[in-house]
Amino acid sequence: MVIEPEDFVEFVKTRRSVRAMSPEPIPREHLDAIVESGLYAPSGSNQQPWHFAVVTNRDLINKIKNAAAARVAEIKARISSASAAKSFDGYLQYITFFDNSSALICCFVEPYRALLERLLSRYAPELSVSTRENASIQSVAAAIENILLAAHAFGYAGCWMTGPLVAKQEIEALVKPAGNWELLAMIALGHRDKNKGETHAPARRRRDEVVSYFT
Ligand SMILES: Cc1cc2nc3c(=O)[nH]c(=O)nc-3n(C[C@H](O)[C@H](O)[C@H](O)COP(=O)(O)O)c2cc1C
Repeated sequence: MVIEPEDFVEFVKTRRSVRAMSPEPIPREHLDAIVESGLYAPSGSNQQPWHFAVVTNRDLINKIKNAAAARVAEIKARISSASAAKSFDGYLQYITFFDNSSALICCFVEPYRALLERLLSRYAPELSVSTRENASIQSVAAAIENILLAAHAFGYAGCWMTGPLVAKQEIEALVKPAGNWELLAMIALGHRDKNKGETHAPARRRRDEVVSYFT
């Protein structure tokens, strides 16, 4: 398979967070292929510290949405400043929009101690650096981006979400696998709602603002 590099870069640039979705099912073989692409992400020491709970059951998606909405309402009730409440209102849709998704991928991380951290803490504690969380979180984040790009390749709407984790404990109680797993993020996948759709592409910082070369 040959993909022209320019085409690949262009493809990456056209991925968007799409929140306006309609919830017809996504065929299981598409879901399998999309999630499997996550498993090919790099991971620290090849630990692959991830688990993906793919939720297509509508009752369960609604329960997760309701848990996030209930927590949002609880938080809102405590905000006494009108202007802060208004800003919070603007943010709400980003936490609870996902009830129209066809699938919710709950992404779990297994915190692990990188080899470097284990060696340092044993032999040179004074030189210890904490790499544990960074390495495992970065690994799962790499998998999430693979999944989003694969969903984009299939033409599905997708959005990375951490907002609903306001109800992390409640969501974990519904879908956490057995073991030392922690919910890190969720991915909403669905069919693009052509009637609503995102209206603008979020601006990007210019390359010369955020990239420096040392030559
Ligand atoms: C770690 C992370 C958390 C995010 N959480 C949310 C979220 O809770 N809700 C949401 O609607 N979008 C969320 N997003 C999507 C961002 O808003 C989006 O990526 C950003 O605005 C850039 O837009 P684009 O993805 O279309 O390029 C999240 C993205 C990342 C990487």
